[in-house]
Amino acid sequence: MYTDILLGLQWGDEGKGKIVDYLADKYDIIARFQGGPNAGHTLVIDGVKTVLHTIPSGILKPGIMNVIGNGVVIDPTTLLKEINQLEAKGVEVKKHLLISKRAHLILPTHKILDAASEAAKGAEKIGSTLRGIGPTYMDKTGRNGLRIGDMLEKDFRQRYEKIRDKHLHLLTLYNFDFSLKEIEAQWFESIEQLSSLQFIDAEYYLNNALRSDKKILAEGAQGTMLDIDFGTYPFVTSSNTVTAAACNGLGIAPSKVREVIGIAKAYCTRVGGGPFPTELHDAVGDKIRSQGNEFGATTGRPRRCGWFDLPAMHYACMINGVTQIAITKADVLNNFEQIDVCTAYEIDGKQMQEIPFDMIGKQITPVYKSVEGWQQSLESFKEFSELPAQLTNYMNFLSKELNTPISMLSTGPGREELLVRK
Ligand code: GDP
Ligand code: IMO
Ligand code: MG
Repeated sequence: MYTDILLGLQWGDEGKGKIVDYLADKYDIIARFQGGPNAGHTLVIDGVKTVLHTIPSGILKPGIMNVIGNGVVIDPTTLLKEINQLEAKGVEVKKHLLISKRAHLILPTHKILDAASEAAKGAEKIGSTLRGIGPTYMDKTGRNGLRIGDMLEKDFRQRYEKIRDKHLHLLTLYNFDFSLKEIEAQWFESIEQLSSLQFIDAEYYLNNALRSDKKILAEGAQGTMLDIDFGTYPFVTSSNTVTAAACNGLGIAPSKVREVIGIAKAYCTRVGGGPFPTELHDAVGDKIRSQGNEFGATTGRPRRCGWFDLPAMHYACMINGVTQIAITKADVLNNFEQIDVCTAYEIDGKQMQEIPFDMIGKQITPVYKSVEGWQQSLESFKEFSELPAQLTNYMNFLSKELNTPISMLSTGPGREELLVRK
Protein backbone atom coordinates (compact mmCIF):
# COMPACT_ATOMS: atom_id res chain seq x y z
CA MET A 1 0.00 0.00 0.00
CA TYR A 2 2.52 2.61 1.18
CA THR A 3 5.66 3.26 3.18
CA ASP A 4 6.02 5.91 5.87
CA ILE A 5 9.49 6.89 6.99
CA LEU A 6 10.44 7.86 10.54
CA LEU A 7 13.84 9.40 11.18
CA GLY A 8 15.87 11.68 13.43
CA LEU A 9 16.20 15.39 12.59
CA GLN A 10 19.05 16.25 14.99
CA TRP A 11 22.20 14.40 16.09
CA GLY A 12 20.52 11.08 16.99
CA ASP A 13 18.81 9.87 20.18
CA GLU A 14 15.72 11.97 19.48
CA GLY A 15 13.45 9.21 20.82
CA LYS A 16 12.85 7.41 17.51
CA GLY A 17 12.51 3.99 19.20
CA LYS A 18 9.73 5.18 21.50
CA ILE A 19 7.69 6.66 18.65
CA VAL A 20 8.20 3.62 16.37
CA ASP A 21 7.04 1.35 19.19
CA TYR A 22 3.94 3.50 19.70
CA LEU A 23 3.11 3.59 15.98
CA ALA A 24 4.05 -0.03 15.20
CA ASP A 25 0.59 -1.59 15.31
CA LYS A 26 -0.65 0.82 12.64
CA TYR A 27 1.70 -1.00 10.22
CA ASP A 28 2.31 -4.57 9.06
CA ILE A 29 6.07 -4.28 8.80
CA ILE A 30 8.74 -2.19 10.57
CA ALA A 31 11.99 -2.02 8.60
CA ARG A 32 15.39 -0.62 9.62
CA PHE A 33 17.20 0.83 6.59
CA GLN A 34 20.69 1.96 7.66
CA GLY A 35 23.20 2.13 10.48
CA GLY A 36 23.94 -0.78 12.74
CA PRO A 37 24.66 -1.41 16.41
CA ASN A 38 25.86 2.18 16.79
CA ALA A 39 22.14 2.85 17.30
CA GLY A 40 20.46 2.48 20.67
CA HIS A 41 16.69 2.80 20.52
CA THR A 42 14.99 2.78 23.92
CA LEU A 43 11.48 1.46 24.56
CA VAL A 44 9.87 1.76 27.99
CA ILE A 45 6.78 -0.37 28.49
CA ASP A 46 5.10 -0.60 31.90
CA GLY A 47 8.30 0.77 33.43
CA VAL A 48 10.48 -1.91 31.81
CA LYS A 49 13.26 -0.59 29.60
CA THR A 50 14.45 -2.36 26.43
CA VAL A 51 17.29 -1.00 24.30
CA LEU A 52 17.41 -2.18 20.68
CA HIS A 53 20.53 -1.82 18.55
CA THR A 54 19.95 -3.73 15.31
CA ILE A 55 16.42 -5.11 15.67
CA PRO A 56 13.60 -2.78 14.55
CA SER A 57 11.51 -1.16 17.28
CA GLY A 58 8.33 -3.01 16.29
CA ILE A 59 9.52 -6.22 17.94
CA LEU A 60 7.64 -5.67 21.22
CA LYS A 61 4.25 -5.34 19.54
CA PRO A 62 2.81 -8.79 18.74
CA GLY A 63 2.17 -9.96 15.20
CA ILE A 64 4.25 -7.35 13.37
CA MET A 65 7.07 -8.36 11.03
CA ASN A 66 10.43 -6.67 11.55
CA VAL A 67 12.88 -6.43 8.67
CA ILE A 68 16.57 -5.56 8.80
CA GLY A 69 17.20 -4.07 5.37
CA ASN A 70 20.17 -4.23 3.01
CA GLY A 71 21.37 -0.78 4.14
CA VAL A 72 22.05 -2.00 7.68
CA VAL A 73 25.40 -3.37 8.86
CA ILE A 74 25.17 -6.32 11.23
CA ASP A 75 27.48 -7.58 13.96
CA PRO A 76 26.44 -11.22 14.57
CA THR A 77 27.71 -11.12 18.16
CA THR A 78 25.64 -8.05 19.09
CA LEU A 79 22.60 -9.32 17.21
CA LEU A 80 22.69 -12.69 18.96
CA LYS A 81 23.00 -10.99 22.36
CA GLU A 82 20.05 -8.77 21.52
CA ILE A 83 17.90 -11.72 20.42
CA ASN A 84 18.81 -13.72 23.53
CA GLN A 85 17.96 -10.82 25.84
CA LEU A 86 14.57 -10.34 24.17
CA GLU A 87 13.78 -14.06 24.18
CA ALA A 88 14.68 -14.25 27.88
CA LYS A 89 11.91 -11.66 28.41
CA GLY A 90 9.47 -13.86 26.50
CA VAL A 91 9.54 -11.95 23.19
CA GLU A 92 9.12 -14.21 20.16
CA VAL A 93 11.92 -12.76 18.04
CA LYS A 94 12.84 -15.35 15.40
CA LYS A 95 9.31 -15.71 14.06
CA HIS A 96 8.98 -11.95 13.56
CA LEU A 97 12.44 -11.03 12.31
CA LEU A 98 13.58 -11.14 8.68
CA ILE A 99 17.06 -10.15 7.55
CA SER A 100 18.12 -9.04 4.08
CA LYS A 101 20.77 -11.27 2.52
CA ARG A 102 22.29 -8.07 1.16
CA ALA A 103 23.02 -6.52 4.57
CA HIS A 104 26.77 -6.29 5.22
CA LEU A 105 28.57 -8.02 8.08
CA ILE A 106 30.67 -6.19 10.66
CA LEU A 107 33.81 -8.30 11.08
CA PRO A 108 35.78 -8.42 14.34
CA THR A 109 38.65 -6.63 12.58
CA HIS A 110 36.28 -3.83 11.50
CA LYS A 111 35.79 -3.07 15.18
CA ILE A 112 39.52 -3.16 15.83
CA LEU A 113 40.15 -0.86 12.85
CA ASP A 114 37.52 1.55 14.18
CA ALA A 115 39.26 1.66 17.56
CA ALA A 116 42.74 1.96 16.02
CA SER A 117 41.64 4.80 13.74
CA GLU A 118 40.02 6.67 16.61
CA ALA A 119 43.08 6.22 18.84
CA ALA A 120 45.35 7.51 16.05
CA LYS A 121 43.24 10.66 15.66
CA GLY A 122 43.82 11.59 19.31
CA ALA A 123 42.02 14.82 20.24
CA GLU A 124 40.48 15.01 16.77
CA LYS A 125 38.70 11.67 17.08
CA ILE A 126 35.11 11.42 15.84
CA GLY A 127 33.98 9.88 19.11
CA SER A 128 32.61 6.87 17.25
CA THR A 129 30.66 4.20 19.10
CA LEU A 130 33.55 1.78 18.30
CA ARG A 131 31.09 -0.68 16.77
CA GLY A 132 33.05 -0.97 13.51
CA ILE A 133 30.56 1.10 11.51
CA GLY A 134 33.03 3.24 9.49
CA PRO A 135 35.33 0.38 8.39
CA THR A 136 32.36 -1.83 7.45
CA TYR A 137 30.76 0.80 5.21
CA MET A 138 34.23 1.48 3.75
CA ASP A 139 34.52 -2.17 2.76
CA LYS A 140 30.98 -2.11 1.38
CA THR A 141 31.62 0.85 -0.92
CA GLY A 142 35.15 -0.42 -1.62
CA ARG A 143 33.52 -3.65 -2.84
CA ASN A 144 35.36 -5.85 -0.38
CA GLY A 145 32.59 -6.58 2.10
CA LEU A 146 30.95 -9.78 3.25
CA ARG A 147 27.18 -9.97 3.28
CA ILE A 148 24.65 -11.92 5.33
CA GLY A 149 23.88 -14.12 2.31
CA ASP A 150 27.57 -15.04 2.05
CA MET A 151 27.35 -16.83 5.40
CA LEU A 152 25.42 -19.58 3.63
CA GLU A 153 28.18 -20.17 1.05
CA LYS A 154 30.75 -22.98 1.32
CA ASP A 155 33.74 -20.70 0.85
CA PHE A 156 32.61 -18.24 3.56
CA ARG A 157 35.54 -19.04 5.86
CA GLN A 158 38.14 -18.51 3.11
CA ARG A 159 36.53 -15.25 2.04
CA TYR A 160 36.45 -14.11 5.65
CA GLU A 161 40.13 -14.96 6.14
CA LYS A 162 41.15 -13.05 3.04
CA ILE A 163 39.49 -9.87 4.30
CA ARG A 164 40.70 -10.41 7.85
CA ASP A 165 44.29 -10.77 6.65
CA LYS A 166 43.98 -7.57 4.68
CA HIS A 167 42.71 -5.83 7.81
CA LEU A 168 45.58 -7.27 9.86
CA HIS A 169 47.99 -5.85 7.32
CA LEU A 170 46.27 -2.45 7.56
CA LEU A 171 46.50 -2.60 11.34
CA THR A 172 50.31 -2.72 11.12
CA LEU A 173 50.07 0.94 10.06
CA TYR A 174 48.75 1.78 13.52
CA ASN A 175 50.56 1.45 16.77
CA PHE A 176 47.59 -0.31 18.35
CA ASP A 177 47.38 -3.28 20.71
CA PHE A 178 44.61 -5.76 20.16
CA SER A 179 43.65 -9.35 20.62
CA LEU A 180 41.55 -11.00 17.93
CA LYS A 181 41.39 -14.68 18.86
CA GLU A 182 38.58 -14.57 21.39
CA ILE A 183 36.28 -12.15 19.57
CA GLU A 184 36.81 -14.03 16.31
CA ALA A 185 35.81 -17.34 17.93
CA GLN A 186 32.75 -15.65 19.44
CA TRP A 187 31.85 -14.15 16.04
CA PHE A 188 31.85 -17.56 14.33
CA GLU A 189 29.95 -19.11 17.23
CA SER A 190 27.32 -16.35 16.91
CA ILE A 191 27.00 -16.93 13.16
CA GLU A 192 26.41 -20.61 13.85
CA GLN A 193 23.66 -19.81 16.34
CA LEU A 194 22.05 -17.24 14.05
CA SER A 195 21.75 -19.73 11.22
CA SER A 196 18.18 -20.54 12.29
CA LEU A 197 17.09 -16.97 11.45
CA GLN A 198 15.15 -16.11 8.29
CA PHE A 199 17.48 -14.60 5.67
CA ILE A 200 15.50 -13.24 2.74
CA ASP A 201 15.56 -11.18 -0.45
CA ALA A 202 14.03 -8.30 1.48
CA GLU A 203 13.48 -6.04 -1.54
CA TYR A 204 11.12 -8.67 -3.02
CA TYR A 205 9.44 -9.31 0.32
CA LEU A 206 8.79 -5.59 0.91
CA ASN A 207 7.57 -4.85 -2.61
CA ASN A 208 5.29 -7.91 -2.57
CA ALA A 209 3.92 -6.66 0.75
CA LEU A 210 3.22 -3.23 -0.76
CA ARG A 211 1.43 -4.89 -3.68
CA SER A 212 -0.78 -6.82 -1.30
CA ASP A 213 -1.92 -3.65 0.48
CA LYS A 214 0.44 -3.88 3.43
CA LYS A 215 1.84 -0.83 5.23
CA ILE A 216 5.50 -0.39 6.03
CA LEU A 217 7.16 1.93 8.54
CA ALA A 218 10.83 2.51 7.72
CA GLU A 219 12.83 3.22 10.90
CA GLY A 220 15.92 5.40 10.67
CA ALA A 221 18.92 5.34 12.95
CA GLN A 222 21.17 8.25 13.98
CA GLY A 223 19.96 11.67 12.77
CA THR A 224 20.15 14.05 9.84
CA MET A 225 23.05 16.05 11.27
CA LEU A 226 25.05 12.79 11.42
CA ASP A 227 24.39 11.97 7.74
CA ILE A 228 27.55 11.20 5.75
CA ASP A 229 26.66 13.82 3.08
CA PHE A 230 24.56 16.40 4.89
CA GLY A 231 25.80 16.16 8.49
CA THR A 232 28.64 18.02 10.19
CA TYR A 233 31.32 16.18 8.19
CA PRO A 234 33.68 14.57 9.17
CA PHE A 235 31.98 14.31 12.57
CA VAL A 236 29.23 12.09 11.19
CA THR A 237 28.39 8.43 10.87
CA SER A 238 29.24 6.45 7.72
CA SER A 239 25.77 6.04 6.25
CA ASN A 240 23.10 8.28 4.79
CA THR A 241 20.50 8.77 7.47
CA VAL A 242 17.96 10.80 5.45
CA THR A 243 14.68 9.95 3.68
CA ALA A 244 16.39 8.93 0.44
CA ALA A 245 18.39 6.31 2.38
CA ALA A 246 15.18 4.44 3.18
CA CYS A 247 14.68 3.78 -0.55
CA ASN A 248 18.29 2.62 -0.99
CA GLY A 249 18.38 0.73 2.26
CA LEU A 250 15.23 -1.27 1.61
CA GLY A 251 14.78 -1.35 -2.16
CA ILE A 252 11.56 0.67 -2.06
CA ALA A 253 10.86 3.26 -4.76
CA PRO A 254 10.32 6.94 -3.79
CA SER A 255 6.83 6.79 -5.34
CA LYS A 256 5.84 4.32 -2.60
CA VAL A 257 6.64 6.80 0.18
CA ARG A 258 3.72 8.60 1.86
CA GLU A 259 4.54 10.40 5.14
CA VAL A 260 7.96 11.40 6.45
CA ILE A 261 7.81 11.65 10.23
CA GLY A 262 10.71 13.64 11.66
CA ILE A 263 11.62 13.25 15.32
CA ALA A 264 13.24 16.03 17.34
CA LYS A 265 13.77 16.73 21.01
CA ALA A 266 12.36 19.94 22.49
CA TYR A 267 16.07 20.89 22.84
CA CYS A 268 19.25 19.41 21.31
CA THR A 269 21.83 16.80 22.25
CA ARG A 270 24.88 15.33 20.64
CA VAL A 271 27.21 12.53 21.74
CA GLY A 272 30.78 12.32 20.46
CA GLY A 273 32.84 15.08 18.87
CA GLY A 274 31.98 17.75 16.31
CA PRO A 275 30.21 21.08 15.89
CA PHE A 276 27.18 21.83 18.02
CA PRO A 277 26.38 25.56 17.77
CA THR A 278 23.78 25.72 20.56
CA GLU A 279 25.75 23.61 23.05
CA LEU A 280 25.54 24.89 26.63
CA HIS A 281 28.70 24.59 28.71
CA ASP A 282 27.03 25.91 31.84
CA ALA A 283 24.62 25.01 34.63
CA VAL A 284 21.68 25.16 32.18
CA GLY A 285 23.30 22.45 30.03
CA ASP A 286 23.96 20.39 33.16
CA LYS A 287 20.34 20.80 34.21
CA ILE A 288 19.05 19.55 30.83
CA ARG A 289 21.44 16.57 31.07
CA SER A 290 20.29 15.59 34.54
CA GLN A 291 16.55 16.23 33.96
CA GLY A 292 16.68 14.43 30.62
CA ASN A 293 18.96 11.63 31.84
CA GLU A 294 21.09 12.40 28.80
CA PHE A 295 23.52 9.48 28.77
CA GLY A 296 24.03 7.33 25.65
CA ALA A 297 21.84 4.22 25.25
CA THR A 298 24.69 2.38 23.47
CA THR A 299 27.87 3.65 25.13
CA GLY A 300 26.62 5.29 28.35
CA ARG A 301 28.57 8.46 27.48
CA PRO A 302 27.16 11.78 28.78
CA ARG A 303 25.39 13.60 25.94
CA ARG A 304 26.26 17.22 25.19
CA CYS A 305 23.15 19.38 25.67
CA GLY A 306 21.93 22.67 24.20
CA TRP A 307 18.93 24.61 22.94
CA PHE A 308 16.73 23.86 19.94
CA ASP A 309 18.49 24.81 16.71
CA LEU A 310 16.11 26.14 14.02
CA PRO A 311 18.69 26.59 11.21
CA ALA A 312 19.72 22.92 11.58
CA MET A 313 16.05 21.86 11.80
CA HIS A 314 15.10 23.89 8.71
CA TYR A 315 17.86 22.10 6.87
CA ALA A 316 16.75 18.67 8.15
CA CYS A 317 13.11 19.30 7.19
CA MET A 318 14.21 20.41 3.72
CA ILE A 319 16.56 17.48 3.00
CA ASN A 320 14.07 14.91 4.31
CA GLY A 321 10.82 16.39 2.99
CA VAL A 322 9.36 16.06 6.47
CA THR A 323 5.55 16.05 6.44
CA GLN A 324 5.02 15.90 10.21
CA ILE A 325 7.16 16.34 13.31
CA ALA A 326 7.09 14.53 16.65
CA ILE A 327 8.63 16.56 19.47
CA THR A 328 9.98 14.46 22.32
CA LYS A 329 11.17 15.07 25.87
CA ALA A 330 9.02 18.16 26.44
CA ASP A 331 8.83 17.13 30.12
CA VAL A 332 12.59 17.66 30.47
CA LEU A 333 11.95 21.41 30.19
CA ASN A 334 9.21 21.41 32.87
CA ASN A 335 11.32 23.33 35.36
CA PHE A 336 12.69 26.11 33.18
CA GLU A 337 11.49 29.68 33.58
CA GLN A 338 12.78 30.54 30.12
CA ILE A 339 13.50 28.40 27.07
CA ASP A 340 15.77 29.63 24.31
CA VAL A 341 15.50 28.76 20.63
CA CYS A 342 18.27 29.50 18.16
CA THR A 343 16.72 31.33 15.19
CA ALA A 344 19.92 32.16 13.27
CA TYR A 345 23.69 31.73 13.32
CA GLU A 346 25.94 34.77 13.53
CA ILE A 347 29.18 34.20 11.66
CA ASP A 348 31.75 36.99 11.09
CA GLY A 349 29.16 39.59 12.19
CA LYS A 350 26.55 38.34 9.70
CA GLN A 351 23.32 36.61 10.64
CA MET A 352 22.34 33.60 8.57
CA GLN A 353 19.53 31.09 8.59
CA GLU A 354 21.37 28.60 6.39
CA ILE A 355 23.95 26.31 7.90
CA PRO A 356 27.47 26.74 6.53
CA PHE A 357 29.14 24.05 4.38
CA ASP A 358 31.84 23.58 7.00
CA MET A 359 31.15 24.31 10.65
CA ILE A 360 34.54 23.12 11.89
CA GLY A 361 36.69 25.82 13.44
CA LYS A 362 34.08 28.53 12.70
CA GLN A 363 33.01 30.90 15.42
CA ILE A 364 29.24 30.42 15.29
CA THR A 365 27.24 32.52 17.73
CA PRO A 366 23.62 31.42 18.03
CA VAL A 367 21.01 34.18 17.92
CA TYR A 368 18.34 33.31 20.45
CA LYS A 369 14.68 34.04 20.89
CA SER A 370 13.37 33.29 24.38
CA VAL A 371 10.00 31.83 25.14
CA GLU A 372 8.35 31.45 28.52
CA GLY A 373 8.53 28.05 30.26
CA TRP A 374 5.37 26.28 31.49
CA GLN A 375 6.87 25.34 34.85
CA GLN A 376 4.58 22.45 35.68
CA SER A 377 4.38 18.70 35.28
CA LEU A 378 2.86 17.40 32.03
CA GLU A 379 1.81 14.06 33.50
CA SER A 380 -1.92 14.74 33.53
CA PHE A 381 -2.17 16.11 29.96
CA LYS A 382 -3.55 13.80 27.29
CA GLU A 383 -4.74 16.25 24.61
CA PHE A 384 -2.95 19.01 22.71
CA SER A 385 -5.89 21.35 23.39
CA GLU A 386 -5.40 21.08 27.18
CA LEU A 387 -1.69 21.88 27.28
CA PRO A 388 -0.36 24.85 29.26
CA ALA A 389 -0.46 28.02 27.14
CA GLN A 390 3.33 28.48 27.25
CA LEU A 391 3.95 24.98 25.84
CA THR A 392 1.30 25.52 23.16
CA ASN A 393 3.04 28.79 22.25
CA TYR A 394 6.40 27.03 22.04
CA MET A 395 4.99 24.28 19.79
CA ASN A 396 3.12 26.77 17.59
CA PHE A 397 6.28 28.84 17.21
CA LEU A 398 8.36 25.82 16.11
CA SER A 399 5.65 24.54 13.79
CA LYS A 400 5.22 27.95 12.13
CA GLU A 401 8.97 28.48 11.73
CA LEU A 402 9.38 25.02 10.19
CA ASN A 403 6.17 25.25 8.21
CA THR A 404 5.35 21.69 9.26
CA PRO A 405 2.67 20.34 11.61
CA ILE A 406 3.67 18.90 14.98
CA SER A 407 1.61 15.72 15.12
CA MET A 408 2.94 14.17 18.32
CA LEU A 409 4.35 15.43 21.61
CA SER A 410 6.14 13.06 23.95
CA THR A 411 5.98 13.90 27.65
CA GLY A 412 7.86 10.98 29.20
CA PRO A 413 9.79 7.82 28.25
CA GLY A 414 6.80 5.46 28.64
CA ARG A 415 4.80 4.16 25.68
CA GLU A 416 1.62 5.93 26.89
CA GLU A 417 3.29 9.28 27.64
CA LEU A 418 2.45 10.70 24.26
CA LEU A 419 -0.04 13.24 22.90
CA VAL A 420 -1.22 12.61 19.37
CA ARG A 421 -2.99 15.33 17.40
CA LYS A 422 -6.34 14.08 16.17
P1 GDP B 1 16.61 6.97 19.79
O1 GDP B 1 18.01 6.53 19.53
O2 GDP B 1 16.20 8.10 18.91
O3 GDP B 1 15.61 5.86 19.78
O4 GDP B 1 16.61 7.58 21.28
P2 GDP B 1 17.35 6.95 22.57
O5 GDP B 1 16.59 5.77 23.04
O6 GDP B 1 18.81 6.77 22.32
O7 GDP B 1 17.28 8.16 23.57
C1 GDP B 1 16.08 8.72 23.97
C2 GDP B 1 16.00 8.61 25.52
O8 GDP B 1 14.96 9.44 25.98
C3 GDP B 1 15.65 7.23 26.00
O9 GDP B 1 16.21 7.03 27.28
C4 GDP B 1 14.13 7.26 26.09
O10 GDP B 1 13.59 6.33 27.04
C5 GDP B 1 13.93 8.67 26.56
N1 GDP B 1 12.69 9.33 26.13
C6 GDP B 1 12.02 9.23 24.94
N2 GDP B 1 10.99 10.09 24.92
C7 GDP B 1 11.01 10.75 26.09
C8 GDP B 1 10.23 11.80 26.65
O11 GDP B 1 9.29 12.32 26.05
N3 GDP B 1 10.57 12.25 27.89
C9 GDP B 1 11.61 11.71 28.60
N4 GDP B 1 11.88 12.20 29.81
N5 GDP B 1 12.37 10.73 28.11
C10 GDP B 1 12.08 10.26 26.87
P1 IMO C 1 20.63 6.41 17.41
O1 IMO C 1 20.06 5.57 16.30
C1 IMO C 1 23.58 9.37 18.63
C2 IMO C 1 27.49 9.21 16.66
C3 IMO C 1 28.69 8.80 17.49
C4 IMO C 1 29.78 9.58 16.79
C5 IMO C 1 29.37 9.49 15.32
C6 IMO C 1 30.06 8.38 14.54
O2 IMO C 1 20.55 5.77 18.74
O3 IMO C 1 20.07 7.79 17.37
P2 IMO C 1 29.80 5.75 14.47
O4 IMO C 1 29.91 4.72 15.55
O5 IMO C 1 28.48 5.76 13.78
O6 IMO C 1 30.95 5.70 13.51
O7 IMO C 1 29.94 7.15 15.23
O8 IMO C 1 27.98 9.27 15.32
N1 IMO C 1 26.37 8.25 16.68
C7 IMO C 1 25.22 8.45 17.33
N2 IMO C 1 24.83 9.46 18.15
N3 IMO C 1 22.72 8.39 18.34
C8 IMO C 1 23.08 7.39 17.50
O9 IMO C 1 22.21 6.46 17.07
C9 IMO C 1 24.39 7.37 16.99
N4 IMO C 1 25.07 6.53 16.17
C10 IMO C 1 26.27 7.09 15.97
O10 IMO C 1 28.53 9.20 18.82
O11 IMO C 1 29.73 10.93 17.17
MG1 MG D 1 19.82 6.27 20.56
